[in-house]
Amino acid sequence: MGSALTETPVWRELLKHQETLASAGALSDLILSDPERLGYPELALDGIRLNLAFHRMTPKTIELLIKLAQQQKVEDKRAQLFRGDKINVTENRAVLHTALRQKGNQPLMVDGRDILQDVKAARQQMKNFVGDVREGRWKGATGQPIRHIVNIGIGGSDLGPRLAVGALASDAADLKVHFVANVDAFDLLSTLQSLDPAQTLFVIVSKTFTTQETLLNATTARQWLTGKLGEKAVAQHFVAVSANTGEVQKFGIDAERIFPMWDWVGGRFSLWSTVGLGIALAIGMENFERMLDGAAAMDEHFRTAPLAQNMPVILALLGVWYRNFWDMQAQAILPYSERLRDLPRYLQQLEMESNGKSVTCDGKPVDYETAPIIFGECGSVGQHSFHQWLHQGSDIVASDFIGVVQDDLRQPEHHQALLANMVAQAGALAFGQTKATAPSDIYVGNRPSTILLLDQLDPYRFGMLLALYEHKVFTQGVIWNINSFDQPGVELGKRMARNLERQDKAQDRAGAFLTDFWHKIGSVNKK
Ligand code: F6P
Repeated sequence: MGSALTETPVWRELLKHQETLASAGALSDLILSDPERLGYPELALDGIRLNLAFHRMTPKTIELLIKLAQQQKVEDKRAQLFRGDKINVTENRAVLHTALRQKGNQPLMVDGRDILQDVKAARQQMKNFVGDVREGRWKGATGQPIRHIVNIGIGGSDLGPRLAVGALASDAADLKVHFVANVDAFDLLSTLQSLDPAQTLFVIVSKTFTTQETLLNATTARQWLTGKLGEKAVAQHFVAVSANTGEVQKFGIDAERIFPMWDWVGGRFSLWSTVGLGIALAIGMENFERMLDGAAAMDEHFRTAPLAQNMPVILALLGVWYRNFWDMQAQAILPYSERLRDLPRYLQQLEMESNGKSVTCDGKPVDYETAPIIFGECGSVGQHSFHQWLHQGSDIVASDFIGVVQDDLRQPEHHQALLANMVAQAGALAFGQTKATAPSDIYVGNRPSTILLLDQLDPYRFGMLLALYEHKVFTQGVIWNINSFDQPGVELGKRMARNLERQDKAQDRAGAFLTDFWHKIGSVNKK
């Protein structure tokens, strides 16, 4: 027997509707037979446009998908999110990344505390520090200003800031922000080799301050620094972002050098918090706040726009449509902007760590698919690698093309080529080429895509873009009735690695097998 969700009339109607659409013809017929397609339906907000011309859908599709969203109580759940209800049920936590960009002075209480006051104080602390570092008032141990920031963190404490700095920082900036995430020492050592410790500041970002990779990298970085400048230099060259002040202080960073984090912000939703310190150092506090404003505009849209005109809701529903009703296993993220090169990796964590779940909020196994595989690459680079698979592979997947209308115009012919390639790819995927002399030259087409256009890639539009995807992920989690805000699936591997490193006595046959295997592959420090 199916679950409550797959047994509902609207789910069945969607299945029937899919069959009707699939047998009515290809996507190309759907597009070319519809005189309204070119302008329809395009959702727009403050310089971001979501164009749905290349989708396998009709007005009926949207109508049914909206019914599904209503049935799953997306509007109620959305109100709970913004209100600070403890919707992260497994960890009994509120989910309030939206509070980090909230306007106004209305208090927002979590466990009897107005968290907006905490946010305000932390923002002021960031502002002072960013101003001091960027304007050269913050001196290193030898009296020199800071020229290099090394952000040490992993997952949500790395991917968002890394993406934002890549997208928004100027190449010509005096202050460079570097990112180190991997426990592979090559990552840290290759970053440090060109840096002068006297001009380098480390930002250790870890909400829990227990993450092995980050702590090892931070310890090695401290050895590198103190080896050259002495123990006392740690005070001027290390700051931390964390919710675990006790552990940070044990590491040797004083309380006044700690930027607070809170358990109501999930790691993958945290770049808006003090976790964004590296971003603010790279682009300045004013630009950081513009990014928050953009996200706030998207929050307001998500909170108030009717479901059928709601960009995150529509994006989410189309994802559900392809995943659950067309059996598509993956979703390609294709930013046609070099500055958005880290977007696919960022969305991989956002979507797959959030919605890669097989148990509902009530603890029951799901009998429908949840998050697809998210993968991607910058256009036009990806065209020369995996787009062959997108066009002619045996699997069909939907793609998100993300283009910037007014981007790097120093060489207009490059920009024209970039956008022409983007549109051509969406067209080739949709229309294909069915008349060809050789079978290998046939493109079946029929592959849908979303075209997301940003007027400009500025902090405001960038903030909107990320908030759009955050709310998409939330909405899908609601439809699938899963908790998008925990990540229990990452724990087992961490525990096994710890046991191996400590060379603990194996507790079971699997542990014994892993220990033997680990010794077999070599390079193990024997106790
Ligand atoms: O292991 C997964 C994870 O907990 C992510 O959810 C998180 O973004 C990352 O590790 C880093 O965690 P922390 O900021 O606590 O070091």
